Amino acid sequence: MTQKKPLVIVTRRLPDAIETRMMELFDCRLNLDDKPFSQKELIAAVKEADVLVPTVTDRVDAGVLAQAGPNLRLIASFGTGVDHIDLKTCRQRGITVTNTPGVLTEDTADMTMALILAVSRRITEGVKLIKSGEWNGWSPTGMLGHRMWGKRLGIIGMGRIGQAVARRAKGFGLSIHYHNRRKVHPDIENELEATYWESLDQMLSRMDVISVNCPHTPATFHLLSSRRLKLLNDRAIIVNTSRGEVIDENALARLIKSGDIAGAGLDVFEQEPAVNPKLQASENVVLLPHMGSATIEGRHDMGEKVIINIKTFVDGHTPPDRVVEAMF
Ligand code: 8YV
Repeated sequence: MTQKKPLVIVTRRLPDAIETRMMELFDCRLNLDDKPFSQKELIAAVKEADVLVPTVTDRVDAGVLAQAGPNLRLIASFGTGVDHIDLKTCRQRGITVTNTPGVLTEDTADMTMALILAVSRRITEGVKLIKSGEWNGWSPTGMLGHRMWGKRLGIIGMGRIGQAVARRAKGFGLSIHYHNRRKVHPDIENELEATYWESLDQMLSRMDVISVNCPHTPATFHLLSSRRLKLLNDRAIIVNTSRGEVIDENALARLIKSGDIAGAGLDVFEQEPAVNPKLQASENVVLLPHMGSATIEGRHDMGEKVIINIKTFVDGHTPPDRVVEAMF
């Protein structure tokens, strides 16, 4: 007896090779024009689908899930962060959730380093000056930034990405400090010569650079609150390649404007795709359009993971990247 293929609804365009393989394996509905789904379209999708493949641009909240049809058994998200999915409601409704961890670690860590260097060495200002045609030539006091070698980097969230950032940063001569719910394995601490701070407050006031690498959860929402941001010294810079919600963006913009924080490199924002106009207006910030994991190789590997998760699930096994609330 031949088994009916599951109806898989994909909310955004994925790499060609991934879409083709999905079409071969599943009864797959693609989003060819890549226009993000409205909440109404998302509801229509969960009513019908056996499997939903959302991305960070879909809000799969309790309201959407309440309307899911009885067939919806798997949400195989394309991405590592799962803060756009209501995991508790999924559990209550018996819907399995998967993500794509591991394959975007190195790319996101690269982008974190790029932001650290871009802010400290004023890369975008330099590019702007050249493009304006107004550069008059070298000067001993022109375009001075700050040396990174010998400075202290405080990493918030020492998971896979945090550790990959630490490895790179060590090569650039930064000394590694971190705050995490728990200490990492002593072998990793030794390798990275990393100093653990149980108290985030204590770490913040001593760092030259802060990198946000923790997931966004109810516990990390505005972890860098106005009060905590004020603990930073006025030479410190912040970079964020995780989720905008971890930082109180308005407070950050205020403190940058008043010179209490030296600068910021942000790849993510609280109200994406809207960008805080106060940040846009600041000179000493580098803002990127959520492109930390945007490599051709990374997107392909993420797609492969989505396919493997769906296939193992529909074949009756536990998918390798199953997400449960307790992980966060
Ligand atoms: C992804 C990300 O591109 O994986 C994540 O959590 O933030 C991004 O790098 C995006 O989430 C895709 O859905």
